[in-house]
Amino acid sequence: MLDRTLTVRVARIRPMTADVSAFELVHPWGGTLPGYRAGAHIDVHLPGGFTRQYSLAGAEPRAAGAAQGCTRYVIGVKREVASRGGSASLHQRVRAGDLLAISTPRNTFPLHPGATHHLLLAGGIGLTPLLAMAEQLQREGAAFTLCVFARSRAQLAFADELAALAPQVHFHFDEPGAAAGAQQLDIPALLRHPAPGTHLYLCGPGGFMQAALDAAKHWPEGSVHLEYFAPPTPDGAAGRDEPFILVIAGRDIEVPVAADQSAVDALHDLGIDVPTSCSQGVCGTCAVPLVGGHPDHRDHCLTATERRSRIALCCSRAQAGGRIVVEIG
Ligand code: FES
Repeated sequence: MLDRTLTVRVARIRPMTADVSAFELVHPWGGTLPGYRAGAHIDVHLPGGFTRQYSLAGAEPRAAGAAQGCTRYVIGVKREVASRGGSASLHQRVRAGDLLAISTPRNTFPLHPGATHHLLLAGGIGLTPLLAMAEQLQREGAAFTLCVFARSRAQLAFADELAALAPQVHFHFDEPGAAAGAQQLDIPALLRHPAPGTHLYLCGPGGFMQAALDAAKHWPEGSVHLEYFAPPTPDGAAGRDEPFILVIAGRDIEVPVAADQSAVDALHDLGIDVPTSCSQGVCGTCAVPLVGGHPDHRDHCLTATERRSRIALCCSRAQAGGRIVVEIG
């Protein structure tokens, strides 16, 4: 789908927990919005000049196909204590009835069509894309299990929607003596024996993601899919970047990328724009075909298989002093 900007009206703000609210966005004049498949996200342009990415939390009962329209988008937004302005801006400055500019939905975290079972692991507000996936899978009669990890039942967002997905939903609460109906889910035990045909989907905070990825190291290549909502904290001091050459295949163009520049910025300086969204290596919007060279992949969204043929240009580079060859349409 061609990426474009839409104006939507905030139809309703539904508080779900002490710090999470669901924002329901509709067409300003009651029209139809572009459809989407579960796992999609939108950019929201916020008061104060911020742009943030939010996964679409709900798939509409009859109109979730990308080719069909839908009547509303729902995003779940947690008010982050260390907010860089995005979640605070939405919670404090946006009210029902306000107009917002958003992008059309993009999907860099789709369900795998070949899976025979989908195992969805959601940590905290990382539930939002996985809730849409579970709803879509339930509607399509596909096999899935959704495991939801939250601090406590009081901090569980979208509780009504989750109740409608029983019995395929399992809860884990951190609080001692967790509320009735919750289990003590053990991530290593859960992921120890991957069943053939099962695909794993992860979304949640950095520590949760790392624990799940460590436990899923032995899963077949290409069967683990993840979406970060913030880049993981680097585990060491980053070294100084080196300049490199980006070659555009088929166009005979060589683009020098300076040490303090991203490939996206270097291309932009030449008047070649690559679509971006997060600019942090988590969404995959800027990924383009990789044709050759020695890449230094720094994204947090492409799988090992995908990295053989794609590269995220907002963050990844060539290995020191080298070149990479990419296709840009
Ligand atoms: S813009 Fe999100 S990964 Fe590059």
